[in-house]
Amino acid sequence: MQILESPSEMQSYALGARADGRSIALVPTMGSLHAAHLSLLRLARERADIVVVSVFVNPTQFGPGEDFDNYPSAFGDDAEACRRAGADILFHPSADTMYASDHSVVVEETSLSRNLCGLSRPEHFPGVTTVVAKLFNIVQPHVAVFGAKDAQQARVIQRMTRDLNFPIEIIVASTVREEDGLAMSSRNALLTPPQRAEARRIRQALLSAKALIDGGERDPEPIRRHILGHLNESPHLEIDYVGIVDWERLRPVERINALTLIAVAVRIGNTRLIDNIMPARDAFPGSSRQSSP
Ligand code: PAF
Repeated sequence: MQILESPSEMQSYALGARADGRSIALVPTMGSLHAAHLSLLRLARERADIVVVSVFVNPTQFGPGEDFDNYPSAFGDDAEACRRAGADILFHPSADTMYASDHSVVVEETSLSRNLCGLSRPEHFPGVTTVVAKLFNIVQPHVAVFGAKDAQQARVIQRMTRDLNFPIEIIVASTVREEDGLAMSSRNALLTPPQRAEARRIRQALLSAKALIDGGERDPEPIRRHILGHLNESPHLEIDYVGIVDWERLRPVERINALTLIAVAVRIGNTRLIDNIMPARDAFPGSSRQSSP
């Protein structure tokens, strides 16, 4: 495995590989890799000749007062994990090489990004779409793999890819969970043991909502109240939102159907956690490898 730090070196490598007829899969990450990232890497491995993992904690997707400075990082361990999982290239640029000091172009999705996380984190998705567009141009992938835990991010990137004609297949891979159901996230490492114990309520709330839907409830309001009630039982959880939205537009639904996504964001102390479920189907629509969230 090679570690490349310079965007121009990465791009030359990618263009050369393409000229030789080799396909490239990209797994974009912010490092602090765990089993969920490695599952993305395995999917990427099946899909292309060359697997590139990018590790870049992108400053532009964090708002003022968010956890950019405390974002967990463990580059040595990440490199070792990538090597063991069969990555070919670890792309690890610095912020200075990714962003010119006078950079002035932002890629912004203006519909799907405005609801759910976009309401409390208005800087987040423009930062994500800008850096992912840059990674697409630098790494020149045929395929890029994202996790279903970040369902809104996956939808926003699908939309950006479509609207900007990137010739890239977006794969949305299953959420990987801890034994008690908590969705794996680099931010889980920031939880204290009592906070970690409370965090399992997120998945429990989503599963008990699914049980009501499986029992025939189709009205989103009682489902929303049920989830809120479950989460509110914990004094440690501060609810950001419980969204019951359609997968296509990420707008609130009037009736729950097979394309309904239930997405939740909470804060536990200083840590923000998200999770979601599509309660009436086994897989996310619209990609060749989909999740059973
Ligand atoms: O999901 C993430 O880790 C980040 O948002 C991404 C896609 C790597 C962009 O910085």
